[in-house]
Amino acid sequence: NRRIKIAPSILSADFADFGREIRAIEDQGADWVHVDVMDGHFVPNLTFGPPAVKAFRKHVTTVMDVHLMIAPVDPYIEAYAEAGADILTAHVEAGPHIHRTLQAIRGAGMKAGVALNPGTPAEAIQHVLDLTDLVCVMTVNPGFGGQKFIDMTAKVRRLREMIGDREVHVEIDGGVTPATAPLVAAAGADVLVAGSAVFSGGSVSNSAPYGENIRAI
Ligand code: DX5
Ligand code: ZN
Repeated sequence: NRRIKIAPSILSADFADFGREIRAIEDQGADWVHVDVMDGHFVPNLTFGPPAVKAFRKHVTTVMDVHLMIAPVDPYIEAYAEAGADILTAHVEAGPHIHRTLQAIRGAGMKAGVALNPGTPAEAIQHVLDLTDLVCVMTVNPGFGGQKFIDMTAKVRRLREMIGDREVHVEIDGGVTPATAPLVAAAGADVLVAGSAVFSGGSVSNSAPYGENIRAI
């Protein structure tokens, strides 16, 4: 089985038909479903919140990987647990208490993820790795799909060194295409998020290209 998991981001899906889009990517090979929550405050874009994520849950049969681009995080953890998130990822930049946030995410029964913006060093999470199930390495500045990949290979290598033999996923998020994927896979990433690379070429009538796009990464 493939060592590298592909987690298509529904940020690039048809916002008028998430159920169909989720079923299509899962039918066509998605390992996880990456759900980008944006609050228009931490990032300059707004997507959806707990009620929408709860509705997505009815269609997700793999893993619902919820990426919170919001600040603050703590007041909403319970709501995303109730909405059915399997993994809940908070940005280390979203507040001063990432240690407490990760404890709270695990305490709510979810796997705990921490995300790092391109400008944030790997060392920022050095002291919370025992509370972490997934590190999301942003390879774009968060807020939009379809942006140009920023090479974070050195950071991925550094993270793998720090993680050692802990069971921690290293997820790459942003600008992942067949051209950029090998770079980060070689550095030690084991989950690749892809939005525009998966959903480009899809259409209302024919979402078949999703499978080809997923396999091409
Ligand atoms: C960006 C999101 C990413 C984005 C990836 O803020 O966190 O998950 O949807 O989209 P692509 O793969 O198109 O860069
Ligand atoms: Zn994301």
